Amino acid sequence: PKKPVKVLVTGAAGQIGYAIVAMIARGLMLGADQPVVLHMLDLPFAADALNGVRMELIDAALPLLRGVVATSDEAKAFEGVNVAILIGGWPRKDGMERKDLISKNVTIYKSQATALQQHAAPNCKVLVVANPANTNALVLKEFAPAIPAKNITCLTRLDHNRALGQVAEKLNVHVGDVKNAIIWGNHSSTQFPDASHATVCTDRGEMPVRELVADEKWLREEFVSTVQQRGAAVIKARKQSSSLSAASAACDHIRDWILGTPKGTWVSMGVYSDGSYGVPEGVFYSFPVTCEKGEWSIVQGLQIDGFARTKMDASATELKEEKSIAYGFL
Ligand code: NAI
Repeated sequence: PKKPVKVLVTGAAGQIGYAIVAMIARGLMLGADQPVVLHMLDLPFAADALNGVRMELIDAALPLLRGVVATSDEAKAFEGVNVAILIGGWPRKDGMERKDLISKNVTIYKSQATALQQHAAPNCKVLVVANPANTNALVLKEFAPAIPAKNITCLTRLDHNRALGQVAEKLNVHVGDVKNAIIWGNHSSTQFPDASHATVCTDRGEMPVRELVADEKWLREEFVSTVQQRGAAVIKARKQSSSLSAASAACDHIRDWILGTPKGTWVSMGVYSDGSYGVPEGVFYSFPVTCEKGEWSIVQGLQIDGFARTKMDASATELKEEKSIAYGFL
């Protein structure tokens, strides 16, 4: 029998937290044969709510779940964890400026970096979900120098999955037959959703989405803006931000990272840039990646046209701005 993996979820009393803990404990993140111990962290004011989540996990009688730690103590939460899903953060409120959001979260991620470095298992894999996700990941990396940069990532898989969903809707095909969309850049409205390398599995074999859609204007305009604005559209409809889709995407992200991407398939992950595709180094940027044996690598050699270049650069510029705002608070 496999040894249990310790998985930390921060912000576990929140919306995404509530959706993801059951997914993890049902094997959707690490596999149906992998026992887990869940560590849940939230702020002291949410301790009762967090305890309620713990009670529900017990009530769900989940055979893979070998233990639950519910705490507001960072050291205890990070103790020995193999996987850390960082969802907790300062929420964006109406009228709040980006600068203020960054500053509040810099403080939180600086403190969590210390806990991560001091208490987590040495090869802990980290996924930052809380916004601004890319810049929170950067702060985490800077303050946890003992953790290899390749172990820290941020979530753009939701945007990636949204892109697959839009293509499937447009072509009236199953989403499982669509692959290799790309999200470039920041998890923000400057991200560049790119379907120009995506394909659909058809009875005639694998076909380029570009050819099947045969509408360059849709691919460059409506598709891009729908994916970029999808989070806002869900908030408008639900009066709450995306939760089940965010939780599901976070499971996809970790599962593919640890168990590997299928041959010929890539996914989008926010990772510390090594300068690939002319993206500046020193920011967390979303790239197409493949994963094998628990390691991601950026897909190389894709053709970038002038349109894509402009969009990719704009998102890189925004990330450099966020970085300098964050550094201003350090
Ligand atoms: P929420 O407000 O329902 O939950 C956040 C939870 O984090 C709350 O329970 C809060 O008490 C807790 N928290 C705050 N500071 C904390 C700290 N220092 N340590 C531990 N817990 C802390 O928010 P929701 O809807 O669950 O979203 C969480 C975050 O995920 C937000 O920042 C949101 O913007 C982001 N998000 C990111 C997505 C992505 O694709 N990267 C998609 C959707 C949301």
